[in-house]
Amino acid sequence: MPFEDPVGIFDSGVGGLSVMREVRRLLPAEDLVYFADSAHCPYGLKPPGVIRARAFAVSEFLVARGAKLLVIASNTTSIAALDALRSRYDLPIVGIEPAVKPAVAATRNGRIGVLATGVTLAGDRFNSLVERFGNGVEIYPQACPGLVELVESGGCNKPEAENLLKTYLTPLLARDVDTIVLGCTHYPFLRPVVERLAGKNISVIDSGRAVAQQVVRVLKKHGLLRHPTLKGKEYFFTSSEPGVVEPVVRLLWGDPGVVVERAAI
Ligand code: DGL
Repeated sequence: MPFEDPVGIFDSGVGGLSVMREVRRLLPAEDLVYFADSAHCPYGLKPPGVIRARAFAVSEFLVARGAKLLVIASNTTSIAALDALRSRYDLPIVGIEPAVKPAVAATRNGRIGVLATGVTLAGDRFNSLVERFGNGVEIYPQACPGLVELVESGGCNKPEAENLLKTYLTPLLARDVDTIVLGCTHYPFLRPVVERLAGKNISVIDSGRAVAQQVVRVLKKHGLLRHPTLKGKEYFFTSSEPGVVEPVVRLLWGDPGVVVERAAI
C-alpha cells in the first residue's frame, strides 16, 4: 500500500539531517530514506543548472526506492530546483526556505540577519520571500562560504567553526540585529556556536520544525500516514565514500549503529 512507503529526504550532504530529525520527532512511525549527495557537496558554490541536474538524479533514486513524498532538505536546492521537480514528479514535494517570515514576526527592533549560501541569497525565491514577508523590516543577508564543508567534515566544534562564524556574524552584530535566521540546513548543527557568539539577546531561528509540520499536513491530506503504532526505520545513502560519510552521519544523527550505503548516481 502506498501509505506504507518511505519518505525520501535529501540534501547536498549531511545538512538535511537537521530537517530529518524534526521529521522523525513528529513522525515516529514513518520509514525515512535519506540521501546525502556528498560527492557533489557543496551545492552552494555551483550554478543553479548543475544543482537542478543533481536534484533530478537524487530524486530519481528516491522515487525508485518507492518514496511517497520527497523532502528537499536544502534551501539551496529548493531555491534552484523546487519548481522544476514539482513539474516533473507526480508526488508531493516539500521544500524549505529561510525562516524570514517567522523572523519578521519575532524581531523586536526590526533588524534581522540571514545566514545562507550564496545561491540561496541570490535567487528569485529569496527576493520574493523578502518582498512578500519583509514588512518593512531591515533584512541583512550574509553568505557563509566554508561552513558547509566544516559540518561535512564533522568539525562543528573545531576552532575554525568559531573563527568563520565570527567573521560572518560581526557585520550582522554591527547592524544591531536581534534575530538571526539559519537559512541553510547545515547551520543548525552550528547553532550552539552561533548562540554563544551572538549572545542571549539574539534569537536564532531555523525552518526544520516548520518543514516537518508541513510533511505531516501533506501526508495527512493525501491519506499517506502509516499507522501510528508502527516504529519507523531510517536508511542512509551517499554518492560518496561511506567510510568518510558514515562517521559524520553517526555523530549528527546521534546513533553509532547507523549504516550508510553507497549509491553511485
Ligand atoms: N544544506 C543546503 C542548504 O540548506 C546546501 C548547502 C550546500 O551544499 O552548499 O542550502
